[in-house]
Amino acid sequence: MVLANKLHAWNALQAHHDKDADKIVMKDLFAQNPERFHQFSRHFQGPTTKSSILLDFSKNIITEETFKHLIELAREAGVEDMRNKMFSGEPINFTENRSVLHVALRNVSNTPIYSEGKDVMPEVNAVLDHMKSFTESVRSGEWKGYTGLPIKDVVNIGIGGSDLGPVMVTEALKPYATEGGLKVHFVSNIDGTHIAEVFKVVKPETTLFIVASKTFTTQETITNATTAKNWFLEHAKEHAHVAKHFVALSTNTEAVSKFGIDPANMFQFWVWELLTGAHEMDQHFVNTPLDQNLPVILGVLGIWYINFFDAQVHAILPYDQYMHRFPAYFQQGDMESNGKYRNRDGEAIPYGSGPWVVGEPGTNGQHAFYQLIHQGTRITPCDFLAPVETHNPLAGHHDILLSNFFAQTEALMAGKDEEAVLKELQQDKSLSAAQVQQIAPHKIFRGNKPTNSIMFQKLTPGTLGGLIAMYEHKIFVQGVIWNINSFDQWGVELGKQLAKKILPELATGTGEVKSHDSSTNGLINFYKQHKRA
Ligand code: F6P
Repeated sequence: MVLANKLHAWNALQAHHDKDADKIVMKDLFAQNPERFHQFSRHFQGPTTKSSILLDFSKNIITEETFKHLIELAREAGVEDMRNKMFSGEPINFTENRSVLHVALRNVSNTPIYSEGKDVMPEVNAVLDHMKSFTESVRSGEWKGYTGLPIKDVVNIGIGGSDLGPVMVTEALKPYATEGGLKVHFVSNIDGTHIAEVFKVVKPETTLFIVASKTFTTQETITNATTAKNWFLEHAKEHAHVAKHFVALSTNTEAVSKFGIDPANMFQFWVWELLTGAHEMDQHFVNTPLDQNLPVILGVLGIWYINFFDAQVHAILPYDQYMHRFPAYFQQGDMESNGKYRNRDGEAIPYGSGPWVVGEPGTNGQHAFYQLIHQGTRITPCDFLAPVETHNPLAGHHDILLSNFFAQTEALMAGKDEEAVLKELQQDKSLSAAQVQQIAPHKIFRGNKPTNSIMFQKLTPGTLGGLIAMYEHKIFVQGVIWNINSFDQWGVELGKQLAKKILPELATGTGEVKSHDSSTNGLINFYKQHKRA
């Protein structure tokens, strides 16, 4: 397949959109069809973890016909074939000649997954066992720092996925942390403020640094790790102590040993139920027909808005404080995967690809950016996520939270028409008829704004794993339909290269910089003139 817009199903969708889109008014469809919720909702249950995830996608601008075309698009684009290739370890990341093996890392069923003719599962299991024994020895206090004291603080140094993944999961699974146990800190930014604030609250003799970097070359991470090592050595003095306080998550053994980390404490790339939950969703993705398949449904609905309604943004809105970094995690997951403009054959694609992904937990977001979702000029499809049960049942809170969750999707779908606005305003006797006419248009909500509602029983490790895998596969499905390679991220390289060139130009005594455009020269020279040596 070359271009998605050449597919029969794409053209059928375009014709359907041109003919019917204006007529698809969700409020009317709900009034006409009491079964709409049942028709457009699916329930997933993890067989082992018992995680329960309901996807209600009935509040979308779709009819049965739209849905059929969308599923047909996934089929015609070859989603099933590409999915099977990914799960069988074929090197589908062809720009880097690599298999895409995140599903192997949580393949708890242990069925073989082959990459370059070799079953990768024994190696994956060895790393998982290694992680388990190491983390248990740190958590139990058996692992001692250089003065013989157990570890109290863990600092993860990493950036991008090497920060967002651990921080998102640590925050989401906080209720499962041992009280009074290890304190976890995250340092990602090269801005020295980030690590300096951590140094203020941890002690070298009881701190373990995890340097998380797949490549072990990322400038920010290596700089922060070196700063941490220097800070540590100011106190510990002996280089040999580094091994007790620094471990790595990496694939680059040579660079890790050079840094002073014992390769025995390097983990090729955590927590068991989380992996099982993700694996269960993997199995759902592999074995469920496309029209029942949660990641596929989410993927094709996104395509519908991005490519046929020109949506630029997708919002992920968790009504669970523990998920406050979930939108940021999938901002990276989605934007780094599908922010591409070439198809797999190198041609520029004449249609939109990955959206800008935004999100904050509810209800905070309601008081920040929902105004635009309700009354802005653009369409912003949203995923609303909420647990039935909270980990912290403080009197009244959860019902208030969930009443807002239900109300928002209802308001976005139904809107408020002129008649209802006028009726409401006319009841306010302090307003003149002229004032009522003047204010009324501003209070109208057009409605018909699409949302998915994703409800799960409780934010357990298994459920979190399932939700993570669900979004990963959604991104995958969209990448296949757009026929782009979702697995590389060359787009971040140019800025890195230029920063390397600029860094020596900033050194004191190097004179005026003239090698760039006038804006970049002007900014660099302004900085040099005003910085204190
Ligand atoms: O620059 C982008 C990126 O490569 C991300 O994909 C990755 O999550 C991040 O940098 C950190 O990379 P590493 O784990 O190699 O330090």
